[in-house]
Amino acid sequence: MTSEPGRVTGFVLVVAAIAAVAGILFGFDTGVISGAILFINEEFSLTSVMTEVAVSSVLMGAILGALFGGPLSDRVGRRTSILAASVIFIAGTLVVVLSPIFSIFIIGRILIGIAIGVASFVAPLYISEIAPESIRGALVSLNQLLITVGILIAYGVNYSFAAAGNWRAMFLAGVIPGTVLLVGMFLMPRSPRWLMFMNRPAEAATVLKKIRGTADVSDELGEIEKSVRTEGAGTLSDLVAPGVRLPLLLGLGLAVLQQATGINTVIYYAPTIFQFAGLAEATASIAATVGIGVVNVLVTLIAIRLVDRAGRRPLLLWSLAGMGIAMLLLGAGFALENSGAGGAAVSLGQVTAVSLIIYVAAFALGLGPIFWLLIAEIYPLSVRGLAMSLATVTNWAANFLIAATFLSLVDLIGESGVFLLYAVVALLAWFFVFKLVPETKGLSLEQIEAYFRSRGRPGG
Ligand code: BGC
Repeated sequence: MTSEPGRVTGFVLVVAAIAAVAGILFGFDTGVISGAILFINEEFSLTSVMTEVAVSSVLMGAILGALFGGPLSDRVGRRTSILAASVIFIAGTLVVVLSPIFSIFIIGRILIGIAIGVASFVAPLYISEIAPESIRGALVSLNQLLITVGILIAYGVNYSFAAAGNWRAMFLAGVIPGTVLLVGMFLMPRSPRWLMFMNRPAEAATVLKKIRGTADVSDELGEIEKSVRTEGAGTLSDLVAPGVRLPLLLGLGLAVLQQATGINTVIYYAPTIFQFAGLAEATASIAATVGIGVVNVLVTLIAIRLVDRAGRRPLLLWSLAGMGIAMLLLGAGFALENSGAGGAAVSLGQVTAVSLIIYVAAFALGLGPIFWLLIAEIYPLSVRGLAMSLATVTNWAANFLIAATFLSLVDLIGESGVFLLYAVVALLAWFFVFKLVPETKGLSLEQIEAYFRSRGRPGG
């Protein structure tokens, strides 16, 4: 029997699905705070600055986690890093749930953030290293699917415990996916590519045989070995080596653009945006927000079906075009309303609902899943953990900045100004992708590495 690197087995699907549970932790904690914060405010009598700290501490933790997670995932391995992240996540959640005073609550939130920061990129990284190339896009994007499911679960949990005002129970629900990830990953194999990188070829072969369901894995093993031999162990200075410079720029650029096009102002502030648009009733705003969460999940499912067929580039370009148009529509709606010309055939509330749905659908089709996918596939093995962690730190830092400045920006340039600004960023992002992002569908990680190495060569 010959080696079949592209072979899809049931086992590899299970491995990817378990690792993707990390996405639930990410999404759940993104969503749960919005419901819990009202009651936390009450219990600890928070000032507005303290409220901001309560909300953003998880993002600060995530920046830290993403920073240290890179060297960690290269040194102790991808699987061990995910295990460590799930332990820290469960511990942080219990600290939050049991916190008697506000400062202990904040410590718990930072711990949760650290765990999410690590898991947010090590899970896609691990999946990309075990996946057969023919379905790598779909398997890595399972992580994004579970992020969107996590956000939706959080909305449901918030809703269920809101009447009782039980914010501790809201957070406690996170222990369930945390435990599934811990136990599940414990049973999963190590990444064969990391094993080769650590010079453990016999173990790498055993894992590859199991996940490919074949006894002969010599071709794939040979490919990985070749790339380890060419690269050697990576250091910080290797990040600017000729074959790494372009992927580094791509990862950092897409990290900023994924956030600077405004996704989390929609995810975090949708009810507020609906209220700006005149939807006074809280229940209507919340129903509309749940609608956005459902669209996010459903369209991510479509992206998973398309990403290995249509490819990464077309999906990204369509995604950015849709996001830009939706923001343009939203900005124009607010501008018309403010100039007094609105109120004709459709209301601003309707324009807002339609544009936010188009916007989130467009994000879910491309920029959402494909940012995490690309940064898991464009770096050479020797610096993969390190480079991916830098892109992830940048993503979380941009997330923090955009979320923290949204309301003040609205005060400064008005709703229409902010949404039009996001439309301009989407246009810039379109050109960035059009000029720089190569198609990686169907290529092995080693072929992608070779592509960037040849582009880095003079005249390449
Ligand atoms: C982004 C998150 C965002 C989520 C929404 C992810 O890809 O990185 O910042 O909240 O998508 O679905």
